[in-house]
Parts: sequence; C-alpha cells; structure tokens
Amino acid sequence: MLLSPPDVGPLEESYVLDALRSGWVAPAGPHLEAFEREVAERVGCGHAVALASGTAGLHLALLAVGAGPGDVVVVPTLTFVATANAAVYTGAEPVFVDCDPATGNVDPDLLHELLRELRTLGRRVAAVLPVDMFGTCADYSRILPICADAEVPVVEDAAEALGATHHGRAAGSFGRAGVLSFNGNKIITTSGGGMLLSDDADLIARCRHLSTQARQPVPHYEHVEVGYNYRLSNVLAALGRAQLHRLDDIVARRRWLREQYAKLFAAVPGVRLLADGDWEANCWLTTVVVDPAVAGWRAADLAAHLAAQDIETRPVWKPMHLQPVFGGARALLTGAAERLFTDGLTLPSGYAMTESQLARVLDGIEQFLKSR
Ligand SMILES: Cc1ncc(COP(=O)(O)O)c(C=O)c1O
Repeated sequence: MLLSPPDVGPLEESYVLDALRSGWVAPAGPHLEAFEREVAERVGCGHAVALASGTAGLHLALLAVGAGPGDVVVVPTLTFVATANAAVYTGAEPVFVDCDPATGNVDPDLLHELLRELRTLGRRVAAVLPVDMFGTCADYSRILPICADAEVPVVEDAAEALGATHHGRAAGSFGRAGVLSFNGNKIITTSGGGMLLSDDADLIARCRHLSTQARQPVPHYEHVEVGYNYRLSNVLAALGRAQLHRLDDIVARRRWLREQYAKLFAAVPGVRLLADGDWEANCWLTTVVVDPAVAGWRAADLAAHLAAQDIETRPVWKPMHLQPVFGGARALLTGAAERLFTDGLTLPSGYAMTESQLARVLDGIEQFLKSR
C-alpha cells in the first residue's frame, strides 16, 4: 500500500492520445495553452505559465520578484527542500522560520518577528515563501498583512495545495505569484510538471520568456540574457487537463479518507491529526502527530508496525535548518518543526485506495493500538 500513488485511467489515455495524434509533440500546442487557462480559471488567477516542475516555478517566481545575491528569502523550515533550493538558485540567502505546531504552516507571529529582526539588521528581504503544507493553506489572513506592512512580496508555494482554499479563496492565488506542482505523487499529476500563477500579466510574460531560454522574438536565435529550459510539453499538459477534470472527485475522496482516520484516532489519547478540522484543505496527505508521553508509543513504532504489513507511511519532512546542506543558515525557531519531524507520521492517502485496502490500513492501525 503506497502513500499517494498517481491514478490515471481512460480519460487521461484519451487526452494523451489526442495530443500524440494531433502532432503537437513539441513543447508548444493547444493542450498547453488550454491547461494554463483552465488551471488559472480554477485558481482564480489572471495568468499562468505551465512549467517542467514546481521547483522551476519557484525559481522563476523568485527571479521575477527580484531575488538575487545579497538578498534574503524567508522560507519555512518545515518544507520540502525544493522551496529552499529555489531561493539558493537565485543567489539569495534562505532564512528559515518555524511553524505553527497545529498545522505545520508558517507561524505568523514568528514571521513578523523575523521580518522586524531582518529589517533591523539592514537586510533586504526579496520574498516570503509560505508553503501550504500537505494541502492546508497557510494562514494568509495574517501572513498577507504582515508582509504588506514590511513591503515584502509573497510567493506562495502551493505545490501540494491545488483544490484547497483559505476563507473561500483558492490555494495558489495568494501573493504576487503562486506555484503548483504536478509531480507524480501530487493531487493531480502530469507525471512531472508545475505551474506559475499570478494576476500580474507582466510577471507571467517575463517568466514565460525566461522559461524558453530567454529567446528574443526575432527569426534567428538571439539572446540578451540567460534563460532556462523550463517549459511543460503539450503531451504532458494533455495529461494534466484530464486530471484537472477529476480534481473535485480526487479532493472529495482524500477528504473522506481523512475523515476515516479522524474517526479512528478520535478516542486515542496523545494522538491528533495535523491541521485537524480544516476542511478547506485538499487533504492531499493525512498526518497524525503523536505525543509519546501521553500515547505511550512513538510515531516510529506505528510506522514499523505498518511497514511489516507492507503499508507505506512517511515521517514529516526533516526541517531545513537540520539539513547538512543548510548547516549554519540563519533561522528563527521554536522547536515546533523538530517536534513534528519526530512525532509526525503521514498515512496512506491515495485517491485510488479501495475500501478493502483502506480497511487493511485501519485494521493494521487498530491491531497496533490494541497491542500497546
Ligand atoms: C512543498 C513543495 N514545494 C515544492 C515542490 C517541488 O515541486 P516539483 O517536484 O514539481 O519540482 C514540492 C514537491 O515536490 C513540494 O512538496
């Protein structure tokens, strides 16, 4: 039983076949343009550019807001490494901030304090990069005013959050730019891919230009700056369009799975669900957080029990400030991310999990709980 495998079927086959048979196998093509339009509509953003990965989207978004050498980019310490790497690609310095233990998302009070501290130090903060962790939106009602006061643009890492909302507004639409991922394990997939969204047409035009080797619009190959080969292909966009049609279904299913886990763990002392009660989340992955002092067991014990039954689980990310590659980086910490790393466990949350597969996972967990 895998954590979150992709699910593709006849609809995806028909879209991809259409792309292949149409002859649009080169990067450009009608599916690519339609995919951009459809995702932008879904998220409620004016403009979008489809890219080869979410990481590429983060990189271009940071370049577009002017991040570069000497600048700081504020990054949650609890994230996937791509968020921090994108800052480094621009030459900026990632500075890490801890999370709200209830959700794993950026702690707004701490962010406020960090921005004040950086200002006192005379550092230019090129961007704040909140992450919508495991498909739960960060607290933008608080983050956006804090960043606006500090005059720092927000780039939203919504890689995992397509289909989620915060107070009714869609993930990916907060900030100057938002980034989605369509990696194989994400809520919808193009096997690999991403999208950069913004209401700023110039920003998207700039990123589109940079994503195609910054080629000048003349008949020969003319370049006045360094660009990137970051564009999504028409064939993969076709796959993405089919998946997008199924998004509501996929989110509903993952929310239902979370409910089943919530019911099972409701009466278990010392165990809670991460971002519990946020039904605006897309519930991409469901995570339990175990307080070993109360529960009498550790998240790793449950992981080992389930692994023995061939059920995949995964720890929450190891925080960036603990990663050797970011050793010595500046960080404002409370210990919340470190505790989620040791106490959190992500459970199978895939769309295609059948009733009997889910029953097997729930039985495995119940057996474990009885054995304690
Ligand atoms: C939070 C987060 N940011 C960024 C990325 C990068 O996306 P991609 O794998 O499409 O480059 C991912 C997923 O892989 C992610 O989970």
